[in-house]
Amino acid sequence: MTAPLSVNGARLRADLQALGDIGRGPGGGVSRTSFSVEDARARAWYQARCAEAGLSVEVDGIGNMLVSAPGHDTGVPAVWTGSHIDSVPDGGAFDGALGAMAALECVRRLHETAAPLRRPVRAVVYSDEEGNYTHLFGSSALARGFTREELDQLTGRAGDRFVDTFVAAGWNLDRATRTRVDPATIHSTVELHIEQGPHLHRLGHQIGIVTGIVGLGGGTITFHGRADHAGTTPMDMRQDALTAASALIVQFADIAASVSDRAVVTAGILTVRPGSTNVVPATATLSVDYRDPQLARLEALGAAIAASADAVARRHGVEVTFDVERPIPPAPLDEGIQRIVARSAAARGLTATPLPSGAGHDSQNMATLVPTGMIFVPSIGGRSHCPEENTDWTDVENGANVLLDTVIALARG
Ligand code: GLV
Ligand code: MN
Ligand code: MN
Repeated sequence: MTAPLSVNGARLRADLQALGDIGRGPGGGVSRTSFSVEDARARAWYQARCAEAGLSVEVDGIGNMLVSAPGHDTGVPAVWTGSHIDSVPDGGAFDGALGAMAALECVRRLHETAAPLRRPVRAVVYSDEEGNYTHLFGSSALARGFTREELDQLTGRAGDRFVDTFVAAGWNLDRATRTRVDPATIHSTVELHIEQGPHLHRLGHQIGIVTGIVGLGGGTITFHGRADHAGTTPMDMRQDALTAASALIVQFADIAASVSDRAVVTAGILTVRPGSTNVVPATATLSVDYRDPQLARLEALGAAIAASADAVARRHGVEVTFDVERPIPPAPLDEGIQRIVARSAAARGLTATPLPSGAGHDSQNMATLVPTGMIFVPSIGGRSHCPEENTDWTDVENGANVLLDTVIALARG
């Protein structure tokens, strides 16, 4: 029996280290917010790696990058594999980058060995996975598209309007609204990712076979109070917007627990106006990110947060308004692909376990279109979305080899 084709682990490691240096801050964290200067540098670097390998890149209207080997038959539905290269502010060097670079390594390896396949394998980099403007932006565009009105409503973490930043960075809004994918052109998709949680590392498993991805909801909640002098306004005469926002945030743990033991709620951004030490806050806007693996519970969670915000506003004598994003439903992943991943792990002598994903991934949008699978590798200490995010290089290479086996099985099967 001949040994299976394997990735070039040294090349993949060098790529991940080079990409990790783009947007690296003094504290070691990586900041590559979508459509920022750092994101543009990372995109150009990625395209240069593709060109070097003799691969071509198509960039769609929302910035998703799709890579193919020369001469692939466009009439045959392709196997897609990839992830994202944008990051959260001050994040890690593996979230997204691992799956994006391992996918490129697979396509490169298949191309340079002229591996015989029935279907083309294409690498993909999805745009704005981290939701600077909206969660899973690139794959949401592929799966359902965005109207101009929807794009006009989007604002970034820094308070910028998406349309302004996008156009200033040289992108075209008409092309953005026309972006979609025809699912008939895709056979299946598979994404390698770090787990971003503690389970694989704690259990000592090398490969996670992802069974499904959590549902996500979010948006912003704004409390509207009244600005007053911080020295002269008695406590019982205030309409303090931040006090109301705080009262809601401290309820999040109980709200989540009232829905399920898997529900989570997070306020990661708080904006207070007018923002002066000596002025009672007039408005307080909090970002809300809420998740649950079951759709009915996700909806119940969104409703419970809104009801609590209304009750808090009444109690504090302030107004409350909501800016709600369209929830992204939970997605079960393809069982056939889960079996392929399990077989590949076993054949390579790796320990593997099924597990769900608590993080969101573009694969959950792709799963609404075509059979989709995900492979996890351990995150050391379960840390992610922080500079300490780390994965052992052996696990990186193991995960990339299981990804390669999986795309080959899909492209030949
Ligand atoms: C992406 O990392 C997410 O789960 O928000
Ligand atoms: Mn990710
Ligand atoms: Mn992430």
